[in-house]
Amino acid sequence: MGQISDKMEILEQVQKYGYVRETVAQNVDLIAEIHRLRKEKNAVILAHYYVDGAIQDLADYIGDSLGLSQQAASTPADMIVFCGVHFMGETAKILSPEKKVVIPDLNAGCSLADSAPADKFAAFKAQYPDHLVLSYINCSAEIKALSDIIVTSSNAVKIVEQLPKDQKIIFAPDANLGRYVAKKTGRDMVLWDGACIVHVDISEAKLKTLREKYPNALLVAHPECKDNILLQADFVGSTTALLKFVNESPNDEFIVATEAGILHKMKQAAAGTGKKIIPAPATENNTCACSECPYMKMNTVEKLYNALLYEQPEITVPEEIRLKAYESVDRMLEMSKNL
Ligand code: 13P
Ligand code: SF4
Repeated sequence: MGQISDKMEILEQVQKYGYVRETVAQNVDLIAEIHRLRKEKNAVILAHYYVDGAIQDLADYIGDSLGLSQQAASTPADMIVFCGVHFMGETAKILSPEKKVVIPDLNAGCSLADSAPADKFAAFKAQYPDHLVLSYINCSAEIKALSDIIVTSSNAVKIVEQLPKDQKIIFAPDANLGRYVAKKTGRDMVLWDGACIVHVDISEAKLKTLREKYPNALLVAHPECKDNILLQADFVGSTTALLKFVNESPNDEFIVATEAGILHKMKQAAAGTGKKIIPAPATENNTCACSECPYMKMNTVEKLYNALLYEQPEITVPEEIRLKAYESVDRMLEMSKNL
């Protein structure tokens, strides 16, 4: 099977490439092996809706960032294999420090998390000493440690509504989500200027042409999109909310303005209904005609298998950062309980 038995070699590969590079022999039934290993190791496979459909089909739980955090906090498994991006693995470790948390590829980052380096953010925060810091979960553990409350796209509006009306707020790192929440809640918020490279790359011009072709299609959009897209959307919500909306709507055509991975579940859920689900077009910058997150797509079934087998790359968070970050993430989970 070509397994590496030397632990040093495994760690060297992770250090050099960001993942265990061992190529799996062709005669290995990867899916069967993943099922065997997850059982043997009491591991849970968590996957975000944006990862490849083949991985979603293998996962114990597929969800949006909030659902995945709730699962990571409550799972009885010994090991969490997180198929998503780095900050998601970190959040799982912050919530479940006693568990081993591995991700298929350490290079799976996030433009939002990268937009907010801790030192620059600390200096920014220092300019607004009387503000509460709300950070979107798409940020590093260090930023979570500098924040008062973490939010996701599914609870941000409802969490802000629970705060006193005169509470001054910094919202980071996604300026588009921040603007959307400010508009929805009527709050004036100081925004950090970060963006998701995937959602801001949806082409308004191409979308116009697509809407002319499908005049009856409803446009559903993720709040990480720019205002020009959100203003025309029939429904705005997190990935889970978009899925629910498309599932429950009596309409039969939808244009989906978010990362294209969500179409896998949407199409599975709509099978047999005759619903047409169309991805919103990206500008020519994206490698795919639709919107694909290059980081989410770093997750492959082979890397997932290696992560399970070698229990690497492992996510670690320094304890002093984890303890502070835990407070802001736990506050979010508390404030989301009855939503
Ligand atoms: P949600 O999972 O909250 O919908 O956010 C989408 C996203 O961009 C995750 O990286
Ligand atoms: Fe980050 Fe955007 Fe990719 Fe989500 S889709 S992981 S926000 S870059």
